[in-house]
Amino acid sequence: MQASATPASTINVDYEQPETDRAGEPHACSTHHAWARVPVEPAPTERAALKDKIRRLLKEKNAVMVSHYYVHPDLQDLAEETGGIVSDSLEMARFGRDHAAQTLVVSGVRFMGETAKILSPEKRVLMPDLDATCSLDLGCPVQEFSAFCDAHPDRTVVVYANTSAAVKARADWLVTSSCALDIVRALKDQGQKILWAPDRHLGGYIQRETGADMVFWNGACIVHDEFKAFELEALKKEHPKAKVLVHPESPADVVALADAVGSTSAILNAARTLDATEFIVATDNGMMHKLRTLNPGKVFIEAPTAGNSATCKSCAHCPWMAMNGLAGLAQVLETGANEIHVDPALGLLARRPIDRMLAFTAAQKQQALAGSHLRPHLGAA
Ligand code: 13P
Ligand code: SF4
Repeated sequence: MQASATPASTINVDYEQPETDRAGEPHACSTHHAWARVPVEPAPTERAALKDKIRRLLKEKNAVMVSHYYVHPDLQDLAEETGGIVSDSLEMARFGRDHAAQTLVVSGVRFMGETAKILSPEKRVLMPDLDATCSLDLGCPVQEFSAFCDAHPDRTVVVYANTSAAVKARADWLVTSSCALDIVRALKDQGQKILWAPDRHLGGYIQRETGADMVFWNGACIVHDEFKAFELEALKKEHPKAKVLVHPESPADVVALADAVGSTSAILNAARTLDATEFIVATDNGMMHKLRTLNPGKVFIEAPTAGNSATCKSCAHCPWMAMNGLAGLAQVLETGANEIHVDPALGLLARRPIDRMLAFTAAQKQQALAGSHLRPHLGAA
C-alpha cells in the first residue's frame, strides 16, 4: 500500500488487487484504487470539548458507542467509559444486537455498521464517516462474486464479515476471524466443500489448519498483506525473547512465524496469557492502545511492513479505520447524519448467515461454560 497526503486530511490509497486467482485464472475484480479522508487531530481544548459534547449527546439521544480496536484511542476509551464497547467484529455485532439503546454509533468500517443494521433493523445506526470502507469489501463486488458462486453450486458459501450486505446475502455462513476456524472445521466434519471469500490469506490459514476442501476468492487486506516475513525474522533475532502475535489476514510466511494466531480479541488474550513480557505484533497498530493499557509493564513492538528499500516501514494502520474521529462522531450524534440504510429485503437475506454464526458461537460459549468439549451443532443450513 502507498498512502500520500494530498490535501491535509485526505489520503489516496493504492493497493494491489491480484490480477489472477490462485489457479492462475484472470481475476474478475479490477479494483485497484481507493481513498480515505482522515480527520485532522483536534487541539487539546477542542478535544476535551468534543468529548464532553459526545458524552452529553449519547445520554440525550439514548445512544451507545460500538468501537473497533483499530480506531483512534479516544473513540475506544469513550466507548468504554460511556457503557459501550470496544471489541472485535464478532463481539461488535453481538453487542449491537443485544443492547437496548435505540441508536448505535459504530466507529469502524462500513461493513460493521451494516452488520449492526441488518441485525437491528429497528435501530438507528450511525457512523462518523460512511465512506470508511475496507479493501476486502471493495475487492469483492457482488456481481462477480455471484458468478463465482454460480460456478461452484456444490459448495457451501462461507463469507468473511468484511463484505457488503449483498455479498452476505449470497452466503450460507458468515464468519469473522475469531470463529472461522471452528465453523469451517465443523462444516468439513459434515463432509461439506467450501467456497471461501474474500480474504485469501485468512482462507489459506483456515485450509492449512482444517484440511477442508476450499476454493478461494482472491481478496486481501491492504494492511495485513504488507507484513513481511524476512524483516520479521530479523526483528525476532533482535528480540529473541519476544513472542509473535499475528492476525490471520497476514501472509502465510508471516503466520508461520507466529506464537499465537487469531482475531484482535485472540491477540489481546494471548498478550495476557502467554509467558512473555515482550511481543511483536502483526496487526493494525490501533491495537497497541488496548494491548498497552491492559498489559502495563509488557512491551509491544510493531511487526515490520516493508523492506529497507521501501518508503513505508511499519505503517500498519488501516486508512479507513482512521477516518473515524471525535468531530465526526459529535456531528452525527447532533444531527443524525450518516445513518446506515440497508434495503429491508436484502437485510433479511443477509441476516441468515449472520444469525447462524451468532447461534454457533453462542452455543460454543454455552458448551465451554458447561465444561463440554463437544462441538456445537451447525443448525439448519
Ligand atoms: P477482527 O474480527 O479480528 O476484529 O478483524 C476485523 C478486521 O477488519 C481486521 O482487519
Ligand atoms: Fe479491511 Fe484490513 Fe482495514 Fe480490517 S484492517 S477494515 S480488513 S482494510
